[in-house]
Amino acid sequence: MEKKLIKIRESSKEIIIISGINSTDALKDILNNYNGTYIVTNHKVWNLWGYKIRDILRNRFFLYTLPDGERYKNISSVMKIYNFLTENKATRNSCLIAFGGGVIGDLAGFSASTYHRGMKLIHIPTTLLSMVDSSIGGKTGFNLRSGKNLVGTFYQPDYIISDTNYLSSLDRNEFLSGLAEIIKAGLISDKGLFDLLEKNQKKIMAVDKELIDKIISVAQNIKIKVITKDEKEGGLRAILNFGHTFGHSLERLSNWKIMHGFAVAQGIAFESYLSYLRGFLSLNKLKRIIGLLKKYDYSLKAKYPVNRMKESFIYDKKRKNKEVEWVLLKDIGKASCGEIVDERLLDMALEGYYNLNKNQICL
Ligand SMILES: NC(=O)c1ccc[n+]([C@@H]2O[C@H](COP(=O)([O-])OP(=O)(O)OC[C@H]3O[C@@H](n4cnc5c(N)ncnc54)[C@H](O)[C@@H]3O)[C@@H](O)[C@H]2O)c1
Repeated sequence: MEKKLIKIRESSKEIIIISGINSTDALKDILNNYNGTYIVTNHKVWNLWGYKIRDILRNRFFLYTLPDGERYKNISSVMKIYNFLTENKATRNSCLIAFGGGVIGDLAGFSASTYHRGMKLIHIPTTLLSMVDSSIGGKTGFNLRSGKNLVGTFYQPDYIISDTNYLSSLDRNEFLSGLAEIIKAGLISDKGLFDLLEKNQKKIMAVDKELIDKIISVAQNIKIKVITKDEKEGGLRAILNFGHTFGHSLERLSNWKIMHGFAVAQGIAFESYLSYLRGFLSLNKLKRIIGLLKKYDYSLKAKYPVNRMKESFIYDKKRKNKEVEWVLLKDIGKASCGEIVDERLLDMALEGYYNLNKNQICL
């Protein structure tokens, strides 16, 4: 088991991350500090892994299980969680445990942040994406009919327990969806992580526990480094959006049918290509990035017309100014935020990218 202490500069909050195989066992000691334990999960995760929690906590907790799926990430689920908490007399000093992937983490996190103006929160992420991304950084929220994650708060948990045991039941696509965020982390900040991913595809896809623990830990450290300096997206945090401007556009145009990580993988390919055309990245490095994405079998096939993609960039929720600000790569392991790309170059990049990958990108 590995323990890391994160200190968030902006809110002076301290968070403890406990990671590694069987790190869930740590709950036994932690929960004595709270006035009652309230677990929010979904049916699928509970059927697969509830026995672990029961073994550790016996019957000393209240349980609420939601149906599985992004479509339940809405206000109605939040209301149900509030009712569950009030019916079972939760107080501000009770602890809500979000046990599941990013959907459960966002919903339970939002509920904890608003119930009695903020009760205690522990994340136990069970997908790769939630281990390296959504459980870290304090963003919570739910979807409205008009769009994803339109209501939310920033709220930090006391603990994040990242137990790699849970990955053994994750299907291949969910695993790859999380892995895209790890590839992104390497590209923006850690060449060593990129090299590790490049050299160990087989072991990683076979979920080699030691190696997975290592890459998760490195990817978590990268996100931690960014959010401890910029908790609420004042500036530096934008670097985490590499691959996401293009990726979010794909998600929007697919009506959120494409999985997040698969959209991000395409975004990484496109935004690396844009970095190359902008003169920041060498052809050789671009080839390595595309080669890595292909090695892990991400589809890089362009699907939507160029003009619809361009229109969609403009809707990016995180845009501060009139112009789209891109995160571009200066090297493998080094990114630069707030890059304005002139329209001619963007057209060239889109057309070039689409021509390159009419079938599958081939550089
Ligand atoms: N808060 C943030 O900073 C942040 C960042 C990125 C994404 N998100 C949000 O996270 C969500 C996506 O998260 P996700 O990819 O974890 O999706 P998810 O929570 O829907 O989980 C994906 C699927 O895997 C199942 N599952 C979970 N753990 C499992 C396990 N151990 N074994 C087998 N199946 C398991 C789930 O039941 C679900 O069917 C989106 O709603 C997105 O908006 C939030």
